[in-house]
Amino acid sequence: MAPDHSPVVLITGCSSGIGRATARRFLDAGWRVWATARDPTDITDLADAGCRTAALDVTDGGQIDAVVERVVARDSRIDCLVNNAGYGQAGAVEEIPVDQLRAQFEVNVFGPVRLAQAVLPHMRGAGSGRIVNVSSLLGRVAYPTRGAYAGSKHALEALSESLRAETAGVGVDVVLIEPGAVRTGFEDRLHETESTLDEVAEYGRLRRLVDRAQRLSERRGMAPERVADEIYRAASVERPERRYVVGWDARLAILADRVVPARVTEWLYRRLA
Ligand SMILES: NC(=O)c1ccc[n+]([C@@H]2O[C@H](COP(=O)([O-])OP(=O)(O)OC[C@H]3O[C@@H](n4cnc5c(N)ncnc54)[C@H](OP(=O)(O)O)[C@@H]3O)[C@@H](O)[C@H]2O)c1
Repeated sequence: MAPDHSPVVLITGCSSGIGRATARRFLDAGWRVWATARDPTDITDLADAGCRTAALDVTDGGQIDAVVERVVARDSRIDCLVNNAGYGQAGAVEEIPVDQLRAQFEVNVFGPVRLAQAVLPHMRGAGSGRIVNVSSLLGRVAYPTRGAYAGSKHALEALSESLRAETAGVGVDVVLIEPGAVRTGFEDRLHETESTLDEVAEYGRLRRLVDRAQRLSERRGMAPERVADEIYRAASVERPERRYVVGWDARLAILADRVVPARVTEWLYRRLA
């Protein structure tokens, strides 16, 4: 049998939403796809479709090393890493137990960094590679009662920018994807985190308003396939941009944050509190 020269991608968080759609997008384009999930029984359909699958909890350093070794042992290369796994945490900063904040950063920040550290020696050795980090509109703008999530995505953005500059000379590109609202299970999972808050009554109204706005925007949000297309583009174009903003809501919010004076938004939040 002729050797397979098709490129290889490793994707985290493929049990649902954007990760699942991204695995299918790369598969359709002829890539060898390593789709991973905490529980591999969630992705048996992706295995049936032709993906290689593996169990991967991004907070487990041993599992990360083992999966990357498996990829390289079987396919002898790793062209792209898509750090997609992530979740949102609701609540005012004062209300969030620090353990919950730490858990948020473990998944959204330290997981992607550990994965990047595991694949980079192979990419450097090959003189090429791409790391696509799925951030968010909240990686650029921070809203009240979303500080934990926005903080984690802002941290991911800063680390990505440094990494991009560091790896430019060794042929590795690091790219950020910044979607607006996407119709996935994200919103429901975010609300599950509210049960862990040390609630402060004064923030209740603001939290409910932001919750309502987010539910509304997610209902009108884009399909995960739209983000998967953008991730695929970022992974496959010759010279990728540093960041890809996906969705009109993300574009608008980032623009508004730049042009609307802080005094105006602060006045608005005082009225809403
Ligand atoms: N939906 C949106 O509106 C939106 C907007 C901007 C950015 N994003 C970002 O897009 C990414 C994907 O989110 P989504 O919208 O597709 O939400 P989703 O449907 O809830 O998918 C999140 C994925 O992350 C996985 N995950 C969570 N913790 C993990 C861990 N410790 N190890 C490995 N996997 C873990 C989940 O796996 P389990 O099933 O095992 O929990 C799931 O597969 C996230 O980084 C999110 O921040 C989403």
